[in-house]
Amino acid sequence: MAFKGKVAIITGGGSGMGQTAARLLAQQGAQVAIFDVNEEGMAATAEGFDTVTAYKVDVSNTDEVHAAVARVESELGPVDRVANAAAIMPFGKLLEQDPKVQIKLMDINYGGLVNIATATLPGMVQRGSGDFISFSSMSGIIPGLLMGGYCATKGAVQMYTEILYHENRDSGVRFCCVCPPPVATPLWKQAHDTVVPKLTESSEAIEPQEVIDNVEECLEQGKFLAFPGKQTRMGYIMRRLFPNYLWNFAHKAEGF
Ligand SMILES: NC(=O)c1ccc[n+]([C@@H]2O[C@H](COP(=O)([O-])OP(=O)(O)OC[C@H]3O[C@@H](n4cnc5c(N)ncnc54)[C@H](O)[C@@H]3O)[C@@H](O)[C@H]2O)c1
Repeated sequence: MAFKGKVAIITGGGSGMGQTAARLLAQQGAQVAIFDVNEEGMAATAEGFDTVTAYKVDVSNTDEVHAAVARVESELGPVDRVANAAAIMPFGKLLEQDPKVQIKLMDINYGGLVNIATATLPGMVQRGSGDFISFSSMSGIIPGLLMGGYCATKGAVQMYTEILYHENRDSGVRFCCVCPPPVATPLWKQAHDTVVPKLTESSEAIEPQEVIDNVEECLEQGKFLAFPGKQTRMGYIMRRLFPNYLWNFAHKAEGF
């Protein structure tokens, strides 16, 4: 069992891809600490595993995250793997979306990453080993109308993780920043309860397992950016080479 005796922290472990990742690691013998505000979801993740421990933590709260990581290290041992999956995804046109919601998006999606990185990575770097996984999104690569608040957070996640990786590239820690397309998880319901960009309606969602498998492959192959799904790598290339083409496509789809 690849992760036997290892310790992992998964934020957003109470739902979706965090839940899938936590259960897979537990099946492979790891001790898994899940951080989430969703206690019901965390109980579902831990069901059937006495090696999954739930910690109610708001990832946007620096003191809470640092205290919880210290608790995990004293209760379970030094951390070998971190995956930062916690996020929210309300949509809306930037000048129509409540600024407090836009700032909350940044606090959770980006601030949560900063909090977990600064709480876990110094120890991992000192030990010279471990895996650090950030969840960005294709929305952090290709900007979308009506999704600005969320896209901004995922762009920030990607940039922060890239610099983190390069600042520590000789440390022995493996880094992966994953940029999934739409994935079939409860996060989409949140977005759809606000606004539904027409472009997203046509995309077929992939399964969480496909994303987690792709992250594992990229870690093994030393690839920093992971692009699960069929069109994602092409989308990345298109954004770099033909940004105006993509914008024209988006304006046409939304009709403004
Ligand atoms: N689902 C998609 O289509 C998709 C696509 C690309 C990227 N992503 C990214 O993948 C990651 C996982 O998304 P998912 O689809 O599994 O989402 P999800 O909604 O299923 O799970 C996210 C979890 O984060 C938790 N969370 C929210 N705010 C929190 C806070 N302040 N503190 C602690 N936990 C908090 C939620 O309670 C939830 O359990 C996210 O970073 C998301 O942005 C998702």
